Amino acid sequence: MIPLPPKVLFLDQTAQLGGAELCLKDMVLVRKDAYQAADRVVLLQHGPLEDLLRSAGIDTVVYGFSKSSQSIRKDGGLLKKVGSSFDVLQLARAVAREAADMDVIYPNTPKALIVGAMAGWLAGKPVVYHLHDMLTVEHFSWSNLVLMVQTANRLVRHVIANSQSSADAFRAAGGTTPMTICYNGFRRDVFDDHSHNHSMHRKMIRDSIGLPIQTTGQPLVMVFGRYAPWKGQHVAIEALRNLPGVHLALVGDALFGEGDYKSQLITMAADPKLQSRVHFLGFRDDVPALMQAADVVVHCSVAPEPFGRVIVEAMLSKRPVIASSAGGALEIVQDRVNGFTATPGDAPDLANRIREVFELPVAHREQIIAAAYQSALDRFELKAVVEKVNETLRLVVSGQESVVSRQWED
Ligand code: UDP
Ligand code: GLC
Repeated sequence: MIPLPPKVLFLDQTAQLGGAELCLKDMVLVRKDAYQAADRVVLLQHGPLEDLLRSAGIDTVVYGFSKSSQSIRKDGGLLKKVGSSFDVLQLARAVAREAADMDVIYPNTPKALIVGAMAGWLAGKPVVYHLHDMLTVEHFSWSNLVLMVQTANRLVRHVIANSQSSADAFRAAGGTTPMTICYNGFRRDVFDDHSHNHSMHRKMIRDSIGLPIQTTGQPLVMVFGRYAPWKGQHVAIEALRNLPGVHLALVGDALFGEGDYKSQLITMAADPKLQSRVHFLGFRDDVPALMQAADVVVHCSVAPEPFGRVIVEAMLSKRPVIASSAGGALEIVQDRVNGFTATPGDAPDLANRIREVFELPVAHREQIIAAAYQSALDRFELKAVVEKVNETLRLVVSGQESVVSRQWED
């Protein structure tokens, strides 16, 4: 009989559908369906993730930060955090209680790391932190970096990093906790179902934004992701100036309080020179269908991307993808082999790369798309990724971290 996997208390600071939360959701669902895992998810906010998990039969509990804590931003200082330490302690106590019948506490976000690490200490449970972020000054203030790294070093038994790049950034910031790299995993069937009906989805999406089915003269570039200055949607809009006739669809929204940036994008797009060629599609739950309408999917982060789910999703959708050449994106895309890369923040370079993709001979384009699809299947299959996480958890729970660390050193 296959032993049941360790019981995990997953902890996330938000219930919005960011990449880290979608990764957690996929993992929890596979653990339940394929491994009969009896997990519990604790969220520190209400939101759409809560309903998705509950409707899939996952034991889900929500404990809210108070108003003062919720206003703490990722780039805020240590002092603001200390100001809310009472809340953090209260939450840690609640999480420790929820963890009483669990084997391991698994914070999935930075704020959850602080609460989860304290909860682990209070409950006497091992803590495994899933690192989805680049711990660098581009993404965090110094004081927050110190707080996170020191918390991980002292109270976390193991770090699961979402890429080599995020693992390297953790080490460079002083992180000493043993680590394993686990990329995000994806279900191929979801994307296959949509690419088999490519023409239908393509027509539907192009119709919905008023574009004729014929691409000639009006190809569509698509960018998927939440609006945030570092995600670089402004670079894609800027690139459009050098691409007459090309349309751009932005799929996503300001999920974590980046309303000012969204207004900036809307203002940029209103420039008469862009002739209403930028389309704002909002946050959508039909990404695999939408991808089918893209003549090219662009990832345009201006800071190194920790991983970049949208890049793999484009590969599985059999669409050509251009990614910003930094961070985790470079672990996924090899320029002109299974995709294309562009210099982060360089709109003219991005425009050139988009033109290159459009001008590629069909056979060459298809060869790159096929290589992309195959590499995504080989490296980012959901069940294989979850199995690696499960194995890491088993070793940590049974006190064999040294075995896991040796794997990392190899
Ligand atoms: N996404 C979505 N709806 C949208 C825009 C994005 O479901 O309208 C999903 C997208 O398919 C991807 C995730 O959000 O799975 C974004 O993850 P990624 O790693 O690319 O970036 P993050 O936002 O986590 O930094
Ligand atoms: C974070 C990162 C993103 C990554 C996702 C899943 O949200 O910003 O790069 O793909 O987590 O690990």
